[in-house]
Amino acid sequence: MEIKKVVIIGSGTMGSGIAAHLSNANIPVTLLDLTSDISEKAKERILKSKPPLLFEKKNINNIKAGNIDDDFEAIKEADWIVEAVVEKIKIKHQIYNKIFKSRKPNSIISSNTSTIPLKILSENLSENDKKDFCITHFFNPVRYMGLLEIVKTNLNNKKKIQFLKDFCENKLGKGVIVCGDTPGFLGNRIGVYSMQIALTEAIKKNLSIEEADAVFGRPMGIPKTGVFALYDLIGIDLMADVLKSFIKELPKKDPFHDVGKDIPIIDKLISTGFTGRKGKGGFYRINKKNNEKVLEALNIKTNIYSKAKKIDLGINKVDLKKLINRKDKYGNYARSVVVKIIDYASSLVPEITDNYNDIDEALRLGFNWSKGPFEMLEEIGVKNFLKLSENLNNNKFLQKLKASRIDKFYEKRQIYTNIQSLGKVKKLALKIEKSDSADIYKFKDYNIVEFTTKANALDYKSMDDLKRATDKPLIIINESMQFSAGVNLNYVMDFVKKNDFKSIEKFIKYFQETCRTLKYSEHPVVSAPSGLALGGGEEVLLQSNFIVSHTNIVMGLVETIVGLIPAGGGCKEMLWRWSQTEEGKKDPDFAPLKVFEIIGFAKTAASAQEALPLLFLNTDDKVIINRNNLLPEAKLLIEKNKKFKAPDKCNFKLTGKQVRSKMLEILEKLHRDKLIKEHGMEVGKELAYVLSGGSTNFNNELSEEDLYNLELEGFMKLINKKKTQERIKHTLATGKPLIN
Ligand code: NAI
Repeated sequence: MEIKKVVIIGSGTMGSGIAAHLSNANIPVTLLDLTSDISEKAKERILKSKPPLLFEKKNINNIKAGNIDDDFEAIKEADWIVEAVVEKIKIKHQIYNKIFKSRKPNSIISSNTSTIPLKILSENLSENDKKDFCITHFFNPVRYMGLLEIVKTNLNNKKKIQFLKDFCENKLGKGVIVCGDTPGFLGNRIGVYSMQIALTEAIKKNLSIEEADAVFGRPMGIPKTGVFALYDLIGIDLMADVLKSFIKELPKKDPFHDVGKDIPIIDKLISTGFTGRKGKGGFYRINKKNNEKVLEALNIKTNIYSKAKKIDLGINKVDLKKLINRKDKYGNYARSVVVKIIDYASSLVPEITDNYNDIDEALRLGFNWSKGPFEMLEEIGVKNFLKLSENLNNNKFLQKLKASRIDKFYEKRQIYTNIQSLGKVKKLALKIEKSDSADIYKFKDYNIVEFTTKANALDYKSMDDLKRATDKPLIIINESMQFSAGVNLNYVMDFVKKNDFKSIEKFIKYFQETCRTLKYSEHPVVSAPSGLALGGGEEVLLQSNFIVSHTNIVMGLVETIVGLIPAGGGCKEMLWRWSQTEEGKKDPDFAPLKVFEIIGFAKTAASAQEALPLLFLNTDDKVIINRNNLLPEAKLLIEKNKKFKAPDKCNFKLTGKQVRSKMLEILEKLHRDKLIKEHGMEVGKELAYVLSGGSTNFNNELSEEDLYNLELEGFMKLINKKKTQERIKHTLATGKPLIN
């Protein structure tokens, strides 16, 4: 079997997302909707999507738009047909009726339904057709969400399901979990239940929505959107539909009924058009006051919005035990939520799956939790948890654990895949060393460093850990969402507050030293990033010997946005890369001008494919669509480089004033055109000074050390400026750059 051509029916949120992702894998797709106009508009939406659904804009050419009447012929040639129309059984049945009359023998047909059982979708099909029909439940946004649930029954052709699983794993990069035909499958059954618990407990316990989101978020290893903001993001009306279908499908005794019932505040929000971000607002809204955008939160008792409060729980690490043992209202809420989630998830084994492990992985991949309920149970400890459980009587899984008296029950991770992924391999480490900022996993032939700080920001400890781990080949890789958002600017700003610029200089020098160690270590250093690799994170990549990059990556040297310049070797390394291009070898000013543009405009690449032409990646770096494959590929590189030798030092011949005057001309034009202001000019001038080589001239040769020094000098000048400090403060407080 092969999948060479795909037809997708329904070009809404999911159909267009699936089409875009297949096009990323270079598979030709025909996207059909009621009219060609709708599917053409879907293509336009794909091109404009943020974050982008396409690895590269040109991939859109793999998608042909059409309509279900005139272009239905495409079905005859399709190897896989995906139905992603509205969640209405009648419409879906009509479409299957048409498809099975024309499809080619052996093709696979699947539905993207999130709530309709497979047995109902397929009730009108012949036994033979049922063999080829399953559910492929993708998550939104399709490019970025790792989970794909394939739902099958005993009637399915097993080989075909395995083939489809392999295809979606290898070609589309999904974490594919095959599961049975039970309501909400694995991810939504537990994920939506957890949201409902978080929401109803917050109401019961009188927590404000900001308080609930602050607890049911980062402190629990759950994305910071929490529950109320997530409701807004998904759409409050859509959530209500999902709940209705759970209520309809689940037996009366299921605890879902207690939390899935109509909630007055939600009914009110929907009926008044407050359906979330797509509507007039939801639990949160953005209100314009005196020309300024203010985030407001709803008081669910009084129904009045007021400025959203920042809740500081004083937690910077996930520590579930500590959280649920807190003696305040936050601990009380967290305990109640965690206990109910673990109770529910464990009560469903083996009913919804034999593999508790798959439930955890579904929540990681489909909801971006850093730990699933069973890992939470392991962390709390079975003995401790049994004292807290509220529903032990109806829970075979927990009863079995109780009888076995085993406290640590968790065995392997990620059993859904054969790939020797990071999740699996971490459990096999010979030795683990932990600091507050990273974990080092030591194996016989190599080490792994996994950063563990917020957004994996780099500080002294993570730098120490990197250096410490270069005693063997090193792989820098992580399971959390971001590779690294850069050097910890909070840390830098603490010194600014104390007027202690000497300590900032020391810190940046230490970062330079760390990057130098990575580049010239005796053993190869491989970085295997996914997610954000910005600023200092990107500098770590640039100075690793090899990169194995996930396709879902955002790379960039974005320091100028906050009024700084890269000072960990980013300017130097980019200069070197561009000076090695054909044009760079011919014209000494080519590389500095190119890098001036890239760093000056803080250009970012939103995929590995986009990173290549910017030279954030080299052509010999590896690009991988399945995140689980990053580690095996990185290991392969180490094995292939048994005779590794650190790279030769680079030297730079720059023209100093000559190229700087060209850069200054560019800056002046930008200033005249009002595209940059005074502070932008100042930052641009410092960048120009570094990239032109300072007081050098073409007859002079600069070493890497000279460039590190120039970077540091420029950085220190800029961090001293009030405007830079203001920009950093604003970005740290809001997560957004200061526009002016
Ligand atoms: P949507 O409402 O965005 O798009 C549905 C599309 O189907 C529309 O473009 C509509 O014009 C088209 N359509 C309706 N009747 C049609 C027909 N007879 N022939 C051809 N096209 C027709 O819906 P969305 O959100 O993309 O959902 C699609 C499916 O995916 C549903 O089954 C939903 O349950 C499921 N799903 C949705 C997720 C989400 O986050 N939106 C997540 C996972 C699954």
